Amino acid sequence: MSVERERVVTAFSLCVYLMYASTAANSAMDPYKALNIILNPNGTLTRLSIPPQSPPSPDPSLPTLVLSKDVSVNKSKQTWARIYLPRKALDYPPNSKLPLIVFYHGGGFIFYSAASTYFHDFCVSLANNTQSVVVSLEYRLAPEHRLPAAYQDSLEVLHWIKNSNDPWLRHADYSRCYLMGESAGGNIAYIAGLRAAAEVNQIKPLQIKALILIQPFFGGTKRTPSEIRLAEDHTIPLPITDLMWNLSLPVGVDRDYKYSNPTIKGGAKILNRIKLLGWRVAVFGCEGDPLVDRERDLVKLLHYKGVHVVRQFYQGFRHGIFVGDPTMSIKVFNLVKTLHS
Ligand SMILES: *[C@@H]1O[C@H](CO)[C@@H](O)[C@H](O)[C@H]1NC(C)=O
Ligand SMILES: *[C@@H]1O[C@H](CO)[C@@H](O)[C@H](O)[C@H]1NC(C)=O
Ligand SMILES: *[C@@H]1O[C@H](CO)[C@@H](O)[C@H](O)[C@H]1NC(C)=O
Ligand SMILES: *[C@@H]1O[C@H](CO)[C@@H](O)[C@H](O)[C@H]1NC(C)=O
Repeated sequence: MSVERERVVTAFSLCVYLMYASTAANSAMDPYKALNIILNPNGTLTRLSIPPQSPPSPDPSLPTLVLSKDVSVNKSKQTWARIYLPRKALDYPPNSKLPLIVFYHGGGFIFYSAASTYFHDFCVSLANNTQSVVVSLEYRLAPEHRLPAAYQDSLEVLHWIKNSNDPWLRHADYSRCYLMGESAGGNIAYIAGLRAAAEVNQIKPLQIKALILIQPFFGGTKRTPSEIRLAEDHTIPLPITDLMWNLSLPVGVDRDYKYSNPTIKGGAKILNRIKLLGWRVAVFGCEGDPLVDRERDLVKLLHYKGVHVVRQFYQGFRHGIFVGDPTMSIKVFNLVKTLHS
């Protein structure tokens, strides 16, 4: 395999494409070049590398462990979801239902899709290993649709599930619903969770039991020690994360905004309600990820607010490890299984 090809393949398996990071670490790195994107004068992005995609596998006659299919959520916004159903569920008695996991993919709010192989494979494993119904949302990306667009879509899908007559969703137990996301998707799961806490009656019979935040993407204007220590990280160095915030936050706000910095102004007031509702919030992180200190700060805030927080931090590794490395994905599956019981 040529070096160039190897780099491309490796980069595709990461959350962002860091083809130039190691060589450009000392010179000023151009994040546009590293991400292989062009910002057009009209504010849209030309994405020159699209991560590989996988089609769904809806045919129950095929010997697959997990069926999947794509369904439209809101045609006017072109949002849709990929639903994953463990094959075995078709053989269960109708009253035996599986937990429901609503999943939000990562990619710095600007990349990736629910169809991306990277996240598709993770959702298949998640559905199989935890025997859950998974709904993976295709939300709108920035900068074409800046935040809060992705948050609106993420809440809207909960209402959509509630009102849907989809036969696969009949296998889901709406009273055991978890919101899960990785990286930017972890940020989305958190903010969607805050918004859902204000609408618990409107989304019934859907009942959220936990938010599962896998290396959630947060930021702030003041650098944390881990951001400084890992400023030239090969997966998500500061120029890349700074650009992602620039492209996704509402125009005119800085990184100390409530969407990017969850600890600002003492944290969201609705956390008091999340405490009373008894939702658990699981946070996954690792020391090799520049984001780890922000994740730790979030855990501290949640503790302080009396929210039932489950902390899962590991030594070493890098950003993206819980989706990118199947042996680490098991940690997430095991956590989900403890929530089921
Ligand atoms: C924005 O500009 C790009 C590149 O010139 C073009 O391909 C795209 O169609 C334009 N989009 C809109 C909404 O004008
Ligand atoms: C779909 O999106 C449109 C545009 O934002 C919105 O007005 C409408 O309420 C949405 N439909 C549903 C069913 O949520
Ligand atoms: C599917 O899940 C079962 C547990 O439910 C596990 O034993 C098995 O290894 C999984 N298979 C794959 C291919 O992940
Ligand atoms: C982000 O925006 C700020 C303010 O507009 C600017 O100073 C900075 O250079 C931008 N950073 C990146 C990486 O685009």
